[in-house]
Amino acid sequence: MNTAIVGLQWGDEGKGKIIDILAEKADYIVRFQGGNNAGHTVVVGDREFVFHLIPSGILHKAKTCVIANGVVIDPESLLSEMEYLDKNGIKLKSNLKISELCHIIMPYHRILDKLRESKRTQRIGTTGRGIGPCYADKISRCGIRAVDLLNPNVFKEKLEDNLKEKNEIFKKVYKHPGFDLDQLYNQYFDYGKRISKYICNTTILLQEVVKKNKSILFEGAQGTFLDIDFGTYPFVTSSNTTAGGICNGSGMPPETINKVVGVVKAYTTRVGEGPFPTEFKDELSDIIREKGREFGATTGRPRRCGWFDAVLVKYATSLSGVREVAMMKLDVLDNLKEISVCVSYKYKGKIFRNFPYDFEVLTGAQPVYKTFKGWCSDLSKIHKFNRLPRNALNYLCALEDLILAKIRIVSVGSARSETIFR
Ligand code: IMP
Repeated sequence: MNTAIVGLQWGDEGKGKIIDILAEKADYIVRFQGGNNAGHTVVVGDREFVFHLIPSGILHKAKTCVIANGVVIDPESLLSEMEYLDKNGIKLKSNLKISELCHIIMPYHRILDKLRESKRTQRIGTTGRGIGPCYADKISRCGIRAVDLLNPNVFKEKLEDNLKEKNEIFKKVYKHPGFDLDQLYNQYFDYGKRISKYICNTTILLQEVVKKNKSILFEGAQGTFLDIDFGTYPFVTSSNTTAGGICNGSGMPPETINKVVGVVKAYTTRVGEGPFPTEFKDELSDIIREKGREFGATTGRPRRCGWFDAVLVKYATSLSGVREVAMMKLDVLDNLKEISVCVSYKYKGKIFRNFPYDFEVLTGAQPVYKTFKGWCSDLSKIHKFNRLPRNALNYLCALEDLILAKIRIVSVGSARSETIFR
């Protein structure tokens, strides 16, 4: 049984915790898109781990974690994450595999990411990790892949070609001095050597895994509305965060994905710029941010907060074929007397029940809310679904009808034990 986990909002839904729980039943945990823009937080006992690149399943012994071809890798970030794991007593050996086809984030990608942002009238609010420029080079067919780092001739030739063009752009457009070929070559060839033992053809590896009937957990990063095709473009990331990204990002055919679990927060958050129809306009924003500890795991930026948007999530479940949902952070709403859910948008007198892509409509849309009574009690000690207070059950059942998916997991705290399975 192979399961995929995808975020149904703008990322930060709490995927790290669900991946950690579901990883127990999987043999292989596979990341298929994004890079170190992600921040997956996992709490084990009184310790908190944050992963950016290495699948969060690495905390489980006897599991193999795979960084598949759809992921972009910053070797500096990867090496420092490896060091972080080592310091925390987690040993990497044959339990980590990296696809030779992963594109490599180079310093010019990181710098270009920041320079481009500084020149934009409408900033995207990227994480500044070089994700967009690296994927852009992949599509422009001038990217450098993990396999290239291992071959001195190929690597040098590709890097030289890149720098010829890029250095001119850096100097002329951005007044940046550019990059030295030898220095960059030596530095990244060395990184290549240090990660070489993990690099292989992960597609063949995973195909063998499927043949042997072992199970795979696909670990999505970011969320549906950051998807390069289906998100709130251009305020998105540069990869396919929906379930469709799994096939291209890992080389696994569609029939190998047996189930897609959507992860969603009981309210909505977003980091970075872009439309957010249900964003709080009052002090509720601070209350939820404090209670939900809504600060970016990668950049530390405060997250924007708002009510649950069922228009958005219903579209997300349809895009990834999600039938089962994990509802995260329900406890954050514990003290609210009333809880609202957006059921449609209104713009210039017209009602929108489906997610609109017209930028003017999306940015000007007024949410139409349905309001529910809060439960005003502590959920964190509840372990059974039917023991939830009546008002919490009403809220969850109404959401199920709106998003057209079953809520199978409810999270009422950050610890593994604070999870209700239905
Ligand atoms: P980039 O992926 O760094 O290019 O950033 C593009 C947009 O995606 C920005 O709004 C980021 O804040 C957002 N983003 C990227 N990764 C994450 C994530 O893991 N969680 C939430 N937002 C993210």
